[in-house]
Amino acid sequence: MDREPLGVIGAGWVGLVTAACFAELGHQVTVRDVLPERIAELEAGRVPIYEPGLAELVNRNRERLRFTLSIGDVFEDARIAFVCVGTPALYSGDADLAAVWHVLDELPEFEERSILVMKSTVPVGTGEKVRHELDSRGLAHVGYVSNPEFLAEGTAVRDFTNPDRVVVGSFAEADGDAVAALYAPLDAPFVRTDIASAEMIKLASNAFLATRISFINEIANVCEVTGADVVDVARGMGLDHRLGPHFLRAGLGYGGSCFPKDVSALKQLAGNSGYHFQLLNAVIEVNELQKRRVIGKLTKHLGELRGKTVALLGLAFKPDTNDLREASSLVLASRLLAEGARVRAWDPVSLEDARPLLRGAELVESVEDALRDADAAVLVTEWKELRALPTPGNAALMRNALLVDGRNMLDPDAARAAGFAYEGIGRASSVLRAVGEADVPEPDLRA
Ligand SMILES: NC(=O)c1ccc[n+]([C@@H]2O[C@H](COP(=O)([O-])OP(=O)(O)OC[C@H]3O[C@@H](n4cnc5c(N)ncnc54)[C@H](O)[C@@H]3O)[C@@H](O)[C@H]2O)c1
Repeated sequence: MDREPLGVIGAGWVGLVTAACFAELGHQVTVRDVLPERIAELEAGRVPIYEPGLAELVNRNRERLRFTLSIGDVFEDARIAFVCVGTPALYSGDADLAAVWHVLDELPEFEERSILVMKSTVPVGTGEKVRHELDSRGLAHVGYVSNPEFLAEGTAVRDFTNPDRVVVGSFAEADGDAVAALYAPLDAPFVRTDIASAEMIKLASNAFLATRISFINEIANVCEVTGADVVDVARGMGLDHRLGPHFLRAGLGYGGSCFPKDVSALKQLAGNSGYHFQLLNAVIEVNELQKRRVIGKLTKHLGELRGKTVALLGLAFKPDTNDLREASSLVLASRLLAEGARVRAWDPVSLEDARPLLRGAELVESVEDALRDADAAVLVTEWKELRALPTPGNAALMRNALLVDGRNMLDPDAARAAGFAYEGIGRASSVLRAVGEADVPEPDLRA
């Protein structure tokens, strides 16, 4: 099965998954990155990110994948190239489009009609600006399509091959048809639209998911002061077909490379266009405070944190990835260190990546090493390895067996039966019985 050759610009999560999945569908794919070490790793058969199933997919399709540092190679055979470069947040909160503009600056002379497909998440209006730039450089024969990506890290390969929808926004119908045809084997619903709407679908989807998370976190906080249990509340809400069960899990708040920056980018985009997006301000603020509430839970049991040892279990922003971008663990570790606590941190896959980001924390290779003689443990990332955490043996390892389950992953009764004082998010607290001042009031974190 020979299908048309494709190009992919940017070999990160989105680029590598896009390239490997299209190679699996029978395309020859040339993947370009600007990082020589990344390309060298890929050429040597190593996938530089942790994403379940991706390394196998890349290796199975080695014959169809070519990795390069040269943008010229991308367009040697391919007429369609996906732009998958990073669009992180600037200090102002706007999306940083430097990598996107860099790609445009480097484009070679095109003789044949070609299509640039934007998979990176970009502010509404970017496509219009790119079109203008292409036209002013005499590249009117280069088409532009917006095809935002909705994969989630940890399930990226499955999400790419079984998408809920494929969004294709285009200026010219024929360009949209050409891109949509690539996805035909996936048998997914298509949303064909204009460029601005395609760009907005991505930003609005992420902002809405983040809103659900902040909403259930606020419900959890009210549950804590009213005696309700947010896990039961979320289940009861989620069975309503108008609401659905997803993204109703209370916890430490959202992190990662997408939600924080995309929510902020949409807020700034609205502001720059003269609209004050009030709801998103609250979503962002609730998310910030949610991570810090853990400090209150710890001081409630331990009193002063100065000199206390706190184990952070899980560092990646979610399980099944080594991505630490905007991870809750980073905020928690900094807050704990600022309070004078000792921080011991464990993660099954991201310890090396964490080292430069967690200066001042001790990084350990096993959960047991993290727990030994600790005054408290905080479950930060719901790695499956942590399901086995609540055992009497683990409780006995700790100087003080206080467990704050920041993801409501564990059964509170089982944790208490194993000897832990258990604190979840939005659930009844354990009776205070830990070291230090037992009845230090929870600080007002909104002050
Ligand atoms: N990670 C996700 O879960 C996810 C999901 C959906 C959408 N997105 C969006 O997709 C885009 C990419 O995200 P990511 O997580 O894959 O980013 P990433 O940071 O993992 O990868 C981006 C890659 O692009 C490379 N790059 C930068 N400039 C380049 C250039 N001029 N030419 C070639 N390569 C270049 C970088 O070296 C890096 O390897 C972002 O806009 C992001 O918001 C990400």
